[in-house]
Amino acid sequence: MRNTTLGTLFAVALLVPTLTASGRPPSDRPPTATSVATRATTAQTATAASAHHGGRKVILDADMGQLNDDAVAMFMLAKSPSVDFLGVTVVSGNTWVEEGTAYALRQLELIGRSDIPVVPGAGEPLMPGRKERLGAENTLYGTAPWTGAFESPRPAAYDHLAEPPYGGYPTTRPQASAAADFIVAQVKRYPGQVTVFAVGPATNLALAVRTHPEIVPLVKEVIYMGGAFDKPGNITPAAEFNWWFDPESARIAVRTPFRTQTIVPDDVCVKIRYTKARYDAITAGPPTAIKKIFKDLQGPVFAADPGHSTFLWDALTAAVFLDPTIVTTAQQRYVDVDATFGPDYGRSLGYAPDEFAAPKNPAGTQRATLVLDLDLRRFWDLYTGLLRRP
Ligand code: RIB
Ligand code: CA
Repeated sequence: MRNTTLGTLFAVALLVPTLTASGRPPSDRPPTATSVATRATTAQTATAASAHHGGRKVILDADMGQLNDDAVAMFMLAKSPSVDFLGVTVVSGNTWVEEGTAYALRQLELIGRSDIPVVPGAGEPLMPGRKERLGAENTLYGTAPWTGAFESPRPAAYDHLAEPPYGGYPTTRPQASAAADFIVAQVKRYPGQVTVFAVGPATNLALAVRTHPEIVPLVKEVIYMGGAFDKPGNITPAAEFNWWFDPESARIAVRTPFRTQTIVPDDVCVKIRYTKARYDAITAGPPTAIKKIFKDLQGPVFAADPGHSTFLWDALTAAVFLDPTIVTTAQQRYVDVDATFGPDYGRSLGYAPDEFAAPKNPAGTQRATLVLDLDLRRFWDLYTGLLRRP
C-alpha cells in the first residue's frame, strides 16, 4: 500500500468505487413488476423504479462523495433488483451536506436512477462547537489525519459549490423536506419494512428518533458503518470517523431500542482492500455509465500509482445488507459511544453479553450484531457483479 496516511486514504476514497464480475447474489431476486410512477420523473426512471418496487425497502443515510465508498454503496443498492430504494438522505461528514446532496443527485442522474429521492439533512453535528473544538482536540489528544467536511468552508447551497460536481451540476432537485422527516414519513408509510442504512455520522437518525420516537418500533433494522471496537480508531486512537464526527448522535442512535441493529465496524473493514485488479475487473468489457464514472475518476489515480489501494467501508456494509450470508463471524454486544469530550471522545464500546455479570450491560445500552469477518470471495463476486450491471 502506497498511501500510508489516513487522510490520503479518505481523500482519495472520496473519488473511488468497487466491484467483481460473476453471478447474481443469492438475495438478488428477479424484480417484481409493479407501478411506482409516483416516484418516477421520466419514462426511463419510471421503468427503473417499477422494476424495484416490491424489493427490500431501504433508505441510505450517507455523507456522500464522488465515487467514494458512500457512492459505491449507493450504486450497489441502486443496481440490485432485490432493493426498493426509497431515498438517499444526506448528512455532513466526509463532505458538507450541500456537497453530498449535489453528488448524490448527479451520480444518480448519471446512472439513470434520478427516480430515487435525495433529501438533504443535518449540516452540522448535533452539539454546537464541534468544529471549533477540533483545535483543542488536536492539541490535547493528537492530530486527526482527516476531518472530512471540516477541511473546507461550507458551501452556500448544493448548486453553489466551490467546484462543480463531476459531470456538472445536477438538473434534478433535492426534496424540500428534511432528511429526518423523510425517514419518519417512510417508516410510517411502510411500518416494519424499512431498513435504515447509516453509513455516515448518525445525526439524521438521531434527529428522527428524538423528534418522532413513535417510529422506533416500526423500523425494520438499522445497519451502521461505524465504530472501531477491538482495534484503534481511524481518526483518533479511540474513534472511527463516523462516530467521531458526531459522537452524541451516534450515542443516541445505538442506544435506541430498535428491533434490530447491525454494525459493520472498522474492525472488519480493514480486512479488505480495493486495488487496481478490482478496478480492472469492474471496468473491463462493454461500457456502462458506472464504468465510465470509475474510469474517469479512478483511472487517473491508478495510472499515476498502480499500487494505490483503499478501504471500502460503506460498500462492504452494502454487501452485508444485500447478502447477509456473506458474514462468517459476528458477535452480539451491548453497544455504546463515549460522548464525553476527552481522549475517548467518539470511542465505540461493546459489552459482550455475560451470563455471570450483574448487571449484564450498562443501563440503556442495546444489543447489536457486530460483523467481524466476511467470505471475501463471495463479497468480491457480489460487489463486482453489481457494479458491472448495465
Ligand atoms: O470510517 C469510515 C467511514 O467514514 C466511512 O463511512 C466513510 O465513508 C466515512 O464516512
Ligand atoms: Ca460514509
